[in-house]
Amino acid sequence: MKIAVFMGGVSSEREVSLWTGTAVLESLKRMGYDAYGIDVTEENGLSAYTENTYDLAFLAFHGEDGEGGRVQSILDILRKPYTGSGVIPSAVAMDKALTKRIAHDCGIRIAKSYENLDEVDSWPVVVKPAREGSSIGVYICKDRAEAEKALAESGDKKLVIEEFIKGEELTVGVLNGEALGVLRIFPQKSAMYDYKSKYAVGGSVHEFPAKIKKKIYDRAMAESELIHRELGLAGISRSDFLMKDDELYFLEVNTCPGMTKTSLVPDLGTLKGYTYDDLIRIMVETFQPR
Ligand SMILES: Nc1ncnc2c1ncn2[C@@H]1O[C@H](COP(=O)(O)OP(=O)(O)O)[C@@H](O)[C@H]1O
Ligand SMILES: [Mg+2]
Repeated sequence: MKIAVFMGGVSSEREVSLWTGTAVLESLKRMGYDAYGIDVTEENGLSAYTENTYDLAFLAFHGEDGEGGRVQSILDILRKPYTGSGVIPSAVAMDKALTKRIAHDCGIRIAKSYENLDEVDSWPVVVKPAREGSSIGVYICKDRAEAEKALAESGDKKLVIEEFIKGEELTVGVLNGEALGVLRIFPQKSAMYDYKSKYAVGGSVHEFPAKIKKKIYDRAMAESELIHRELGLAGISRSDFLMKDDELYFLEVNTCPGMTKTSLVPDLGTLKGYTYDDLIRIMVETFQPR
């Protein structure tokens, strides 16, 4: 079986995707798979899928095209199997506003959402793109003037405006429906878990398993599994939460979470005894035929 690791792409998270893709490719080769990497750019955005030879596409993208269902849709039409979630689950999970509604319907607590600034009844609020990741374009706005500036700077992107939760960052990895564990993140360089905290050396400390109350730990595990199931996700997903005053607030679910050696999911995998290579192998072995 020949595996092509597709990475890069043209999203704001291109760089992160190249880190993930490179690590995945190294792992596949280390395990003896017949694998090679393909850097997807503006130029080969379609031909990368049609003009290369592969039996399985390993998708190592972050961001809208590769994580949000577009690439999955091309591969479906080409009848090429790929790792991770299918078109519709990927597209829904890519949209934080839609995902929050589904989470809320499932009885999961979410930060209060506002349709527009006139609805805001308490400051600060967070303004963030509905369909981007890596904390890019997240604004914490202490008043209406700041929020209006954030809206102006965000252009015509679909946005989420929500209650600011001054809490601690938790994240839960789910592999094929089973939660791996809860990890608490302590950002070191900024108050928020921003791009720098995510990717700079020493940017954050990962505590896993998170030393939090068992009741909250178990709820985070159960809610992450519920989201994975309700959305119909496949392979690995990672749900992000904020914890404040013993309450959990679900933020979002990532269907192609970062898989560099220092990413969150590989750390969580160790709680179930999985090495990095184990996780990659399981993703390859359990891809969903569509
Ligand atoms: N409502 C919120 N209150 C406080 N901080 C938030 C809120 N929403 C997002 N953040 C901060 O921004 C980070 C990124 O937000 P998130 O919704 O996970 O989007 P993404 O990771 O896709 O950029 C969070 O980890 C958190 O630090
Ligand atoms: Mg996040």
